[in-house]
Parts: sequence; C-alpha cells; structure tokens
Amino acid sequence: MKKPANAHSSKTLPAVRDRVAIAIMAAGKGTRLKSQLPKVLHEVGGKPLLAHVIAAALRVVPAEDIFAIIGHEAERVRSALPGSGINFVLQREQRGTGHALMVARDSLSGYDHVIVLSGDAPQITPQTIARLLNFHLDEQAAMTLLSAEFAQPGGYGRVIRKSPRSPEVKEIVEEKSASPAQRKIKEINAGFYVFAVPQLIANIGKLNTSNPHAEYYLTDMAAVLRKAGERVVAYKAGNSSEVLGANTRGELSLIDHQMRMRKCQQLMADGVMIFYPATCVIDDDVEIAADSVIEPFVQILGKTSIGRGCRVRSYSVIRGSQIGANVLIRNGCILDEACIAPNAVLGPYSHLRPGSDIGEGAHVGNFVETKKIKLGRGSKANHLTYLGDAEIGAGVNIGAGTITCNYDGVNKHATIIEDSAFIGSDSTLVAPVRIGKGAYVGAASCITQDVPEDALAIGRAPQVVKAGWAKEKRALRKTK
Ligand code: UD1
Ligand code: CA
Repeated sequence: MKKPANAHSSKTLPAVRDRVAIAIMAAGKGTRLKSQLPKVLHEVGGKPLLAHVIAAALRVVPAEDIFAIIGHEAERVRSALPGSGINFVLQREQRGTGHALMVARDSLSGYDHVIVLSGDAPQITPQTIARLLNFHLDEQAAMTLLSAEFAQPGGYGRVIRKSPRSPEVKEIVEEKSASPAQRKIKEINAGFYVFAVPQLIANIGKLNTSNPHAEYYLTDMAAVLRKAGERVVAYKAGNSSEVLGANTRGELSLIDHQMRMRKCQQLMADGVMIFYPATCVIDDDVEIAADSVIEPFVQILGKTSIGRGCRVRSYSVIRGSQIGANVLIRNGCILDEACIAPNAVLGPYSHLRPGSDIGEGAHVGNFVETKKIKLGRGSKANHLTYLGDAEIGAGVNIGAGTITCNYDGVNKHATIIEDSAFIGSDSTLVAPVRIGKGAYVGAASCITQDVPEDALAIGRAPQVVKAGWAKEKRALRKTK
C-alpha cells in the first residue's frame, strides 16, 4: 500500500487532482428523540449536531463542494445554520440513507468521489475524514467505509469482512437483520463513507427496500457494489468515540459530556484552571486565556472570550461576552452579550444584559442589573441598582438603590452621567436626563431635570420633624 499523501493534514484535501464532494445526511426526523425539533438541530457542546459536522467538513473541502441533505423540517434546519456557504439538497420524503444519496445524485454527478458523513455524529474530525479519503484513494476502491470497534455494538450495522485480516468487505448487516452470530461482531459501520461517484451512480438504482424498515439502506451498497465486481473496503477509526451517533437523549448527553470534558481538558492544557470540570458547562467556541480560574458550577456559553488572570466564581453563567484580563466575577453573576474591560469586578449576583459595556477597573455589585450601558473607567455601582440605556463617565459613584427610569411606557430614553458625578442612594433618574460633570445628586432624589456641572441637586420633599408627636400618640392610646 502506498503511503497516504498528506494523511495528517487537517485543513486541506490530500494532494489529489480528483474532484471531491462531501454529502452530509441530515434529513432524518430523529424518531427516537421524541422531539419536535429535527434531530440534527439538537445541541451538543452548545451547537447543533449538524453545525459540528459542517465545521469538520469545511476543513476538508470548500463550502461549494459540501451538500447537506435535509428533509424533515428542512427550512428550519436551513435557517438555523446560516452563513456557512454550503449547499442544501432537499430529500422531501425520508426513505432511508440510500434514498438520501439517490436524491443528491444530480448534485454529485460532476465529482469523482463523494465523502458521505452522518449529520448526527458530531465528533468526527477533519483528520479522520482526510485519512478515510486517503485510504479510499490508495485502495482504489469503489466504496470505503469507516468502521470502529465497539465493546457494545448494539444498534449499529456490523461490518462483515471477506476474511478477518482483509481490508475488503462483503457486506454490512443492520442490527435488525443480523443473525445471532453476526450480532457478536464488534466491528461496526460508523456511518461515514467514501464512494467513487461513477460507480455509486451506476449501481445505486439496485438498492431495494426489502428490510424491516422498508427503506433504501446506503449500507446495502457494500453488497451491491461487491456483486458488481467493485472493490469495497473498510478503514478502522483510531478513536471509536469519534463516530458515536446521537440517536437518543442518552447518546446526546453522553456526546455532550465527552465534548465538554475534552474542552475543559484542552483549556487546562492551555493553562486555565478549572476546578471540578465535570460541574462546568463550557461551549466549544469559548476562549479563555491562561491563568484564569473557573470555579465549580460555572457555565460559559456561546462565543465568549475571557482574558488572562480572571476568576469566575461559582454559579455564574456567561454567554456571548468579551471579558478582559484580571476581571473578578464573583458568585452568581449572569452576563449576556456584555463587554467587560480589564480589572473590573462584578457581583456577587450582578445581571449584565446585552449591550452592557463595563470600563476598566469599574465595579458592578450585588443585585445590580444593567442593560445597554457604558460604565466608565473606575466607576462604581455596587448595590441594588438598575442602569438601562445610560452613558456613564469615568470615576462616577452610583449609590445603592439608584434607578434609571428609562421607559415611559412607549419609548426608551437615555440617561447621561458625566465624569466624577456622585449619585446619592435611592435616587431615581427620569430619562431623558443629564447629570453634569462632578455634580452631586442628594440621596433619595427624583431627578427630572438636567443637573449642571458641579451643581448639587436635591429632588425630595423637605423633612418635617414634629417634636413629641410619638410620645403624645402613646399617651392617647393608654387613655382609650
Ligand atoms: C446508520 C447505518 C448503520 C450505522 C449507523 C452509524 C443505515 C441503514 N444504517 O444507522 O449501519 O451503524 O448509521 O451511526 O444507514 N437520514 C437521511 N435521510 C433518510 C434517513 C436518514 O438523511 O431518509 C440521515 C439521518 O438524519 C442521520 C443519518 O442519515 O443523520 C443516519 O440515519 P439514522 O437513521 O440515524 O441511521 P442509523 O439507524 O443510526
Ligand atoms: Ca444515527
């Protein structure tokens, strides 16, 4: 056997002249999930199953050579996966994996080889796909299937080789049609294939539906091609967990767990400390720089990035946020599409909603909610506060219980607080309103008009003191 060209390449095709397409089978309903959501949109590692498979495919061939075969809730699948630039092929009726390829026949006819991936097996790597293709080309096969050795092969199709050591395959037998002896075979069909397109097209019409599901099985192509005198071979995957399919909720959670553990291990290898990683939920796209510490029971989701030397304390949930270096996020914070500059301190129990832009060294404390605000460098809002639609300068102190009244029932209005202003506790700032640079707002004020620079504004009823009033009231009660 020739040495595979470029077998370890992850980004590009092996050095072949042949035109290679990738077809991703993703039309199935996913009956076993008992869900209204199409199977390939179920998420593992924080992304739909199909998104993982597309990402792997994109590292092997360009988007224009990738064809996702969709059918059940096709529009929903297509719109959930925008922007990749791949092609979609509609399999209106889902009559089996063989039928999925029949439907894609016209799209594939201009290619020499097609790599077929399962949209429900998200852990496949570009390296394995490239190795499978290399093996196929070296073997000059009409069909090459990826196999794996499973201790518990139940539910998978079994690979029947011509003889135990031969690369050549006689047939694939589905679990339901397998004999007791065949069920003992531990080598399973992983659901990934490479076909020589002319041989595939010339023979796919020979598939039939005489099986327990009355479907066209792509797996039957092994026997069909062999009977036509073509070469069918199997390539065994090095890492069998790569090929796990997500057919049930149990399998989804197993794959999700494996992905997240792998993510945590990768982050730790890169210098991030994660305590009790099994309790943390960290999505695939998250980036965390070295020397940051993630405490137990933390979720970091979506496209979040965290700089060096940060600490995220327990029970915080961070989604789609950018966090600079040396930020301390105390217990129980919720960050959603927020942007935090270096050295800021958040929490405990801060809720930063979309558009919160927290400046360098700023503090946001206990039970403070923010939305669409800019909080300047070194400014502090430490307790029991709502800040929405506000632009707050540097060195501002926002007292406990401050509320920006940003909504008049119809429209949202802005509050502007300039540098070094001081907002006394329990103030309500009725927007639109501006507090000038260095101004003071007395505690418990209701501010409805702009406050000029360096002024003091007090917007509360003057205090009334009635001497002896309480004593008299007590005396009155006694005489009754
Ligand atoms: C399939 C294989 C089995 C293999 C296993 C590996 C067949 C008949 N069996 O079984 O040998 O061990 O994968 O995971 O192929 N799909 C379509 N259109 C259809 C039917 C299915 O696009 O009409 C898609 C599904 O969405 C899914 C993929 O094809 O992504 C595989 O189908 P699935 O029903 O999950 O096959 P398995 O029973 O897992
Ligand atoms: Ca499957």
